[in-house]
Amino acid sequence: MRDDFIWGTATAAYQIEGAWNTEGKGASIWDEFTHKPDNIFNNDHGDIACNSYNMWPEDIDILESFNIPNYRCSLSWPRILPEGTGAVNQKGIDFYNRIFDTLLEKNITPWVTMYHWDLPLALHKKGGWENRDVLEWFEHYTDTLIKHFGGKIKNWIILNEPNVHAWFGYALGFHAPGIRDELAYLKATHYQNLVIGQTARQLKESHPDFNVGSSYQLVPIRTICPNTSEKDRLRMDALWNENFMQPLFTGKYPAYFDALMEEQKIIEEQDRETIIAPLDFVGIQHYNPIYMAKNKDFLFDCFFGPIPEEMPTTGANWPIDPSGIEDILVNFKDRYGDTPLIITENGIACNDTLENGQCHDPDRENYLIQHITAVKKAIQKGADVRGYFVWSLLDNFEWADGYQYRFGLVHIDYEKSCKRTPKSSITLYSGIIENNGTLLCNTQT
Ligand code: GAL
Repeated sequence: MRDDFIWGTATAAYQIEGAWNTEGKGASIWDEFTHKPDNIFNNDHGDIACNSYNMWPEDIDILESFNIPNYRCSLSWPRILPEGTGAVNQKGIDFYNRIFDTLLEKNITPWVTMYHWDLPLALHKKGGWENRDVLEWFEHYTDTLIKHFGGKIKNWIILNEPNVHAWFGYALGFHAPGIRDELAYLKATHYQNLVIGQTARQLKESHPDFNVGSSYQLVPIRTICPNTSEKDRLRMDALWNENFMQPLFTGKYPAYFDALMEEQKIIEEQDRETIIAPLDFVGIQHYNPIYMAKNKDFLFDCFFGPIPEEMPTTGANWPIDPSGIEDILVNFKDRYGDTPLIITENGIACNDTLENGQCHDPDRENYLIQHITAVKKAIQKGADVRGYFVWSLLDNFEWADGYQYRFGLVHIDYEKSCKRTPKSSITLYSGIIENNGTLLCNTQT
């Protein structure tokens, strides 16, 4: 790996902070969605989550003791601006400033995700991602962040996985705000792409030395379903990858979606320039290749399909196949453009348990070794990968799946005041970082 390769771990506000309605925080769409019955496995919610709102010093101590040099976390927009716009909640600003100051004192570099799916509920009530005014709201939010954190934060990730947010939140309804509507999906897609373009310029104009990116979950779309055609596969590829990558690099959507957007008059004249965002890096998030199938029960007629029988799976039943990340990275330049890439999430859900106060997670260790090895192969084949973040530092609230899936390098005992226990995988990862990835060469070759 290059000498300046960036190693880190990632979390997100709603998944770890808790304190959903204390010290001035406004509600988000996830607060509302989780409080309605039957939206989430076991009716779980993020009211307490990992209690990182109070226990963050322990989280940072763990980063320090395992020598993890970079930490990606997200800001809760409604903790900073309870109504989404207007008055600032100073306690929210102070909370994040304490975290950033402590990280910096310990030489841990913060990477800040501005938006990881927790839209202020007040803005959702005004139309949220379906209202073009979101451009103004986000502009104000960005100014607020620059004003309060611009002096200490250099690395910015504008949106987390707008592709998953639009499809799961506005087309399938599995995630907040629980909408299933074609027009809502199209607007949420285009307005998020516009926000990325607008915000990248706003950040760079304010501080040209900011390192600005946005993160997308990119996956190869495969199918083993005989009833599913190449056209169906490409439709899913558009939903997942191309509706975000093509606008970012060409200002256009894949033909089918471009026509729908034009028909609905969603795209205004200037937009095609705006959505070509001047990003310093593209954040790639990847867990597994997707196996899809044509399915008329869902909007746009596609959904997840059967996976090959012999394929190993994670604790969440997702396929394990490191060729997926290699494929995305190796083909990125030809498919889209020559932009530095940072893997801002990669990880696995395992059924981790505590035994005698310890947590041994060999499946996660194997997954990390296999996937970091695949990243190294991709780099050897010419991919411009500058960094890698494990999802996640902590076990946490896994959206519609509640607390049933554990993604952390650190075990959280939800029954015992969220006690933190570092798993064996964090020791492995710490060693990988110390050797800048060379340990993998030794173990794999
Ligand atoms: C991503 C998401 C994360 C985390 C992860 C594991 O899609 O950005 O918040 O939940 O998946 O499923």
